[in-house]
Amino acid sequence: AVKYRPFPAYDFSERTWPNRRMTAPPIWMSTDLRDGNQALIEPMNGERKLRMFEKLVEIGFKEIEVGFPSASQTDFDFIRSLVVEDRVPDDVTIEVLTQSREDLIRRTIDSVQGARRAIVHLYNAIAPDFRRIVFNMTREEVKQVALNGTRLIRELTAARPETEWVFQYSPEVFSSAELDFAKEVCDAVVEAWGATPGRKIILNLPATVECAMPNVYADQIEWMHRNLARRDSIVLSVHPHNDRGTAVAAAEMAVLAGADRIEGCLFGNGERTGNVDIVTLALNLYSQGIAPGLDFSDIDDVRRCVEYCNQLPVHPRHPYVGDLVFTAFSGSHQDAIKKGFAQRKPDTFWDVPYLPIDPADLGRSYDAVIRVNSQSGKGGVSYLLQQEHGLDLPRRLQIEFSRAIQRVTDETGREVSAGDVYAIFRREYLDV
Ligand code: KIV
Ligand code: ZN
Repeated sequence: AVKYRPFPAYDFSERTWPNRRMTAPPIWMSTDLRDGNQALIEPMNGERKLRMFEKLVEIGFKEIEVGFPSASQTDFDFIRSLVVEDRVPDDVTIEVLTQSREDLIRRTIDSVQGARRAIVHLYNAIAPDFRRIVFNMTREEVKQVALNGTRLIRELTAARPETEWVFQYSPEVFSSAELDFAKEVCDAVVEAWGATPGRKIILNLPATVECAMPNVYADQIEWMHRNLARRDSIVLSVHPHNDRGTAVAAAEMAVLAGADRIEGCLFGNGERTGNVDIVTLALNLYSQGIAPGLDFSDIDDVRRCVEYCNQLPVHPRHPYVGDLVFTAFSGSHQDAIKKGFAQRKPDTFWDVPYLPIDPADLGRSYDAVIRVNSQSGKGGVSYLLQQEHGLDLPRRLQIEFSRAIQRVTDETGREVSAGDVYAIFRREYLDV
């Protein structure tokens, strides 16, 4: 990551901005196998779940939500197989989600029976619309649902000391709830669990449905961060969804506002418009000089695995991974990139114009960087001839030949490959 300059790149020391910046990565939690899975057209079977789990481990996730075992027999069986077949590395903790009902909690804890370490994740919705429309419950009744679940999980886990238990509570729809009530419920849950600085609870504050601008979510997180009664006994987690398309910004701002941990999915899978995309978050950090602690050095391999497991394609313009995100068709961009590559010195900060990150760091070749269609100029055309065929055209010929290429691309409306460019060159100038 030392290859990348922290922002701002220039000396802004006399200014007061940015007044906060990220200097270290958050704790990452992948919920691909739970929130991601529950939103798929075809939920993963055991084989796809295992492929995804192994990829998440390989990438470097240390906390992985592996399913919703009381809601799905496939999830229950998969989680049992992880535990029984000893597939969870020592430094990885699996997490299981449950609602606050006795039979569901018992089944959830049974699913991880014998695990070395496990996070039990309890949730219930606390926002006014849910209290009124979905549950017909008062505030006090909703709080008691959370407390009953917490107490039962405390009792059941205490009886199984062979596992190191961590407890996570999510006041679902937090970002649409009254802050004073969210604090009241969270404080009570922290108390009921008996959290201490040596035995922290994870409090996860979801934007279950993203309903406001990212600064509003960040303000809500900051308020909780400042006002929770036992902040020193809490890992403060966020779980942004992407309904307004601003989940990445919301997560980044939430960390600046005091959050320690982010839950999300690879390439933004998840309910509706998805959970926050952890790949983008991690590579945003990486490209500003902060090692994210997740390995995306073979991004296409990760993408292939995720596309297979989710049976969903990744968009060609998806940040950092889409087929087109390191490609320039237009003449002026190609020209700047060409100059950037020509002037690059080893062991200096990455500074190639129009490329926020070196594609090679993600295991990508430079083949796709410069491609030629009717928008391209002489720079791109001569770059392809030079890179692929070792032909260095004099400037006047570059101009002339690029016009010939433009006639073809205007006529067909199509891209031309390096091979096409060479064939046209031979036809025009070598008469073969
Ligand atoms: O979006 C959400 O609120 C959830 C909870 C279960 C954490 O997925
Ligand atoms: Zn969610």
